[in-house]
Amino acid sequence: MENKQPSVLDLLIETHAGLERQGPGSPEMTRKALGFLDHIDQFSLSADLGCGSGGQTMVLAQHLAGNIIGLDLFPDFVNVLNENAQKQNLAERVKGVVGSMENLPFEKEAFDLIWSEGAIDSIGFEKGLAHWHGYLKICGYVVVTCPSWLTDERPAVIDKFWTDAGSGLDSVAHNIEILQKCGYQFVSSFTLPEKCWTDHYFIPREAALKLLLEKYNGNETVEAFVAENRDEVELYAKYKQYYGYVFYIGKKI
Ligand SMILES: C[S@@+](CC[C@H](N)C(=O)[O-])C[C@H]1O[C@@H](n2cnc3c(N)ncnc32)[C@H](O)[C@@H]1O
Repeated sequence: MENKQPSVLDLLIETHAGLERQGPGSPEMTRKALGFLDHIDQFSLSADLGCGSGGQTMVLAQHLAGNIIGLDLFPDFVNVLNENAQKQNLAERVKGVVGSMENLPFEKEAFDLIWSEGAIDSIGFEKGLAHWHGYLKICGYVVVTCPSWLTDERPAVIDKFWTDAGSGLDSVAHNIEILQKCGYQFVSSFTLPEKCWTDHYFIPREAALKLLLEKYNGNETVEAFVAENRDEVELYAKYKQYYGYVFYIGKKI
């Protein structure tokens, strides 16, 4: 059967659905962030927003007590999470649902923990933290990664890349202030190491991009999509000292 003309969104989903992760991160760093939380053996309900195919959701499930709901816009990603939960005999406790982080389909003050890796910037750091606050129990935790400036120097090419992607970067200090302004006590923050970008994301993504080029041989939309992804890798290699994904951990006051 002939391949239909894919949209950029189709390509984004096709490239990422089979990957362990859809953005920078690693099981080690998920566990490191979990280490800042008290009483995780007493949690009854946690959410993983923008969970993608749920790589980090399964890590959370190995360490947290209680149930975990993963939420993502795209059914293809949520289906992978639910299949993996079945395979790992975790379907009783881990469930993926399709929905929007901007308008959570949950009861207020229901969660001990709201987790979100690599996703909050797509709705805005402040907007996300402010909206999610109402869904946490008092003393519940919010734990997110967000791309951030790491230096005062801000190369214009990086500024443009993230602005075009809909995610303006701010400094870590600014984001910590926002977190406090949104009603959380600041617990900790740390920057993801380079391997979270390279070994855990760019390298597996490049393998998926090669398959895409073979499948849609000669398709200009696919070639442009692959070129954009490769540009992102080059930018990171050249400018990684200026920006990175940062974990922010807060506790609802
Ligand atoms: C960079 S990926 C990160 C996925 C996963 N958390 C990880 O770290 O591998 C961002 C995810 O957020 C999801 N997303 C973006 N905007 C969303 C929204 N408004 N509501 C729910 N999910 C959203 C995307 O579909 C995507 O799966």
